Amino acid sequence: MTVPILRNLADLRALRSTWVQAGETVGLVPTMGALHAGHLSLVEAAKHDCDRVVVTIFVNPKQFNKPEDLENYPRTEKDDARKLAPYDVDAIFVPQADEIYPEGYATTVSVSGVTDVLEGAFRPGHFDGVATVVAKLFMMTGADRAYFGEKDYQQLMLVQRMARDLNMPIDVIGCDTVRETSGLAMSSRNLRLTPEALDRAAVLNRQMRAAAEAARIGTPWGNLRAEALTQLAAAGFGEVEYFDLRCATTLAPLETPDRPARLLAAAWMEGIRLIDNIAVATIET
Ligand code: PAF
Repeated sequence: MTVPILRNLADLRALRSTWVQAGETVGLVPTMGALHAGHLSLVEAAKHDCDRVVVTIFVNPKQFNKPEDLENYPRTEKDDARKLAPYDVDAIFVPQADEIYPEGYATTVSVSGVTDVLEGAFRPGHFDGVATVVAKLFMMTGADRAYFGEKDYQQLMLVQRMARDLNMPIDVIGCDTVRETSGLAMSSRNLRLTPEALDRAAVLNRQMRAAAEAARIGTPWGNLRAEALTQLAAAGFGEVEYFDLRCATTLAPLETPDRPARLLAAAWMEGIRLIDNIAVATIET
């Protein structure tokens, strides 16, 4: 079935008001396109929970801190619409940049705390761009629930914080990271890796799982991190920006997983920046 592609807010609002009048709930899956199985799992979750589902596709310029990254971001609208067709979503909203940021636009949403470290430290301005566009998409769609992947763990934390802090009438739902059989987290950026680099990129998640397991049985984090960095370099990774054990709720650094913990990593493979995170089981005492 062909899904209606809406390009302006007035059309989206008109459609939404018919749903609201019918007492139907609306689920939102915000994306930047280049859809993969991870996005489609969010669509499935939204379809399961909500009467109506809107997928948004907008490559948000405000969240790119490097112009070349924005330029190179894959734009695959036709393919995305084809991938969404079997899911029978109710609308794909593809706004133009000036619909989101019209002339004179001057407002930024900024969430402190969880955004200060890791991605926030390496990508200045990124999270303000994310918070701003997500707040706008929440307002524009008037959705009851919104679905985000755990792959962007800090993004999920920030959106949940923002929705609570600003009393936004929306449930923010986190969904499991979807992985290739190799363990590599699905990402639109994977499209830019050669098949050979894709194989080597899987070492990141392998090292993360090994480190998480060894941390759980009490191996000092410093040793685990050093070993992981050696293995990542041997697999052809360039800079590893972080490979950190952190508190799952505050993101404070941990030496041992003595409370709910998360291992988060960002590393470069052949000019492509890859991120991943996994839960770390609490240390056995
Ligand atoms: O995760 C993404 O694809 C983007 O950060 C989001 C949430 C669609 C905002 O642009």
